[in-house]
Amino acid sequence: MIITIDGPSSSGKSSAAKLLAETLGYYYYCSGLLYRACAYILKNHADYSKSKLQNPNSSDVALYCNYERLRYGYDLNHGVRILFDGIEITAYLKTPEMDECASIISVVDSVRIEIGIIQRHLAEQQRTIVADGRDMGSVAFPNAAFKFFLTASLEERTRRALADSTRHSAHDKQTAQQEAQAIMTRDQRDTVRANAPLVMPEDAIAIDSTDMTLQQVVDTMMAYIKAKKAA
Ligand code: DC
Repeated sequence: MIITIDGPSSSGKSSAAKLLAETLGYYYYCSGLLYRACAYILKNHADYSKSKLQNPNSSDVALYCNYERLRYGYDLNHGVRILFDGIEITAYLKTPEMDECASIISVVDSVRIEIGIIQRHLAEQQRTIVADGRDMGSVAFPNAAFKFFLTASLEERTRRALADSTRHSAHDKQTAQQEAQAIMTRDQRDTVRANAPLVMPEDAIAIDSTDMTLQQVVDTMMAYIKAKKAA
């Protein structure tokens, strides 16, 4: 069974997806980390500048970001681990720079093709998955058993992004105004792009998490799942 959670930046979908997966004993798939990884790899291993990420050579994308070299792993003990050529790169992916670079590169068709291949491998290997991202319910897993769409106010998403200790090293703290502006720019880019934009699938359940704790969000999702299973 597949459960998808989509939503805009810093809406809390990754935390909710991870906790929901743990609660259900499901595999956790965080698709955003793969877009971050593509951007990181092209920047650091293929010498791409930020502006070149807007239009990478599809041969470079296929060479560097293919399923053999870029691997996604998850288990309960270690959490998510992203590997490039067998070396773990997870720790480098959640920075303000990669927030922006991932949003830029996720517009590119060849990148979505490579990540689609990785996703299909995961779906073949795992029977039960909680997947979070922008297009999990709309494009990647249109037949998912449950689709959630998580939102929160811009103020609350800014607060959460700044409070996320996994995202920032001490020297690159952003001000609230800078963070809010960066979130709005990414929202805009993720929503207007032609390929797999951020949309709420018609059959998704919308949850506004602005005034909810993480546990309340997951409890709400569990209540939907239990109610549908009981029906
Ligand atoms: O969820 P995140 O903030 O880690 O995602 C980083 C970027 O990756 C986001 O700005 C858009 C892109 N992304 C995407 O296009 N499709 C997904 N399924 C997940 C992320």
